[in-house]
Amino acid sequence: MLRAAVTAGIDHIDTAQYYGPDVVNDLIREALYPYPGELAIVSKVGVFRDAGAGNPHDDARQLRAGIEDNLRSLRVDQLAAVNLRLPSPGRADARFDDQLAAMVQARDEGLIAGVGLSNVSLEQLRHAADGTEIVCVQNLFHLADRGSTPVLAECTRRGIAFVPFCPLGLPRGPANPVLTSPVVIRTAARLGVTPPQVALQWLLQLAPNVLLIPGTGSTVHLLENLAAEHVALDDEAVRELASVGA
Ligand SMILES: NC(=O)c1ccc[n+]([C@@H]2O[C@H](COP(=O)([O-])OP(=O)(O)OC[C@H]3O[C@@H](n4cnc5c(N)ncnc54)[C@H](OP(=O)(O)O)[C@@H]3O)[C@@H](O)[C@H]2O)c1
Repeated sequence: MLRAAVTAGIDHIDTAQYYGPDVVNDLIREALYPYPGELAIVSKVGVFRDAGAGNPHDDARQLRAGIEDNLRSLRVDQLAAVNLRLPSPGRADARFDDQLAAMVQARDEGLIAGVGLSNVSLEQLRHAADGTEIVCVQNLFHLADRGSTPVLAECTRRGIAFVPFCPLGLPRGPANPVLTSPVVIRTAARLGVTPPQVALQWLLQLAPNVLLIPGTGSTVHLLENLAAEHVALDDEAVRELASVGA
């Protein structure tokens, strides 16, 4: 899958050392190392995961250790960007400042090329971006959950990449509110495309700074998702899709 993705032109892979732990980074390294020069591997820190659930692991020292774990498992000296992943969006308080300082220090020392944020509030985004360069923001956002619309607008205004996570909807499976939406299904049928393609193109047409990271373990889905780039949503589609999740 990873090799097929790169062959198909994917130049941005999202990961985390805590996915496993190590499992996803090991797969990426085994499949793609030495990495193509144009490939941006973007990771995230702030969570510790063993055999059980993930837990916050996000004081300054733990964030630094998380970055080093990613470098070790991916076998690189520097990552294109690393997101500071918060448990939930919140206040831009002193603890957030300490976390940001750890990320900036890692950038200053060359361990990461860019600082990103994940699961942040508008207040945290504004505070962080006023103080230092933020290259990307990764928040939950899809057709049926637009709670991060103000964060997306702020990213667009500041020229920061906005990377919606779970772009095909959450929960996955039979209760997926996007892929089972009658409006999405009807729109896809009318345009001669698929529901995932409608969901992905709807995100792309929102703003030029939207970057997509739909996860898949299927090469058929990979190519289907890539082709979403060429889908044209007409006015009727955009108007009807406004009601999804409302
Ligand atoms: N920052 C965060 O807190 C956070 C949280 C969650 C996820 N993420 C990131 O978001 C990215 C995507 O996450 P994700 O994979 O969990 O969620 P996702 O991309 O929203 O959903 C993936 C699911 O959609 C299915 N799928 C993909 N393409 C499809 C298609 N064309 N037709 C039908 N089903 C399709 C996949 O099944 P198949 O395998 O069968 O295609 C899989 O079950 C990852 O990079 C992840 O790291 C970040």
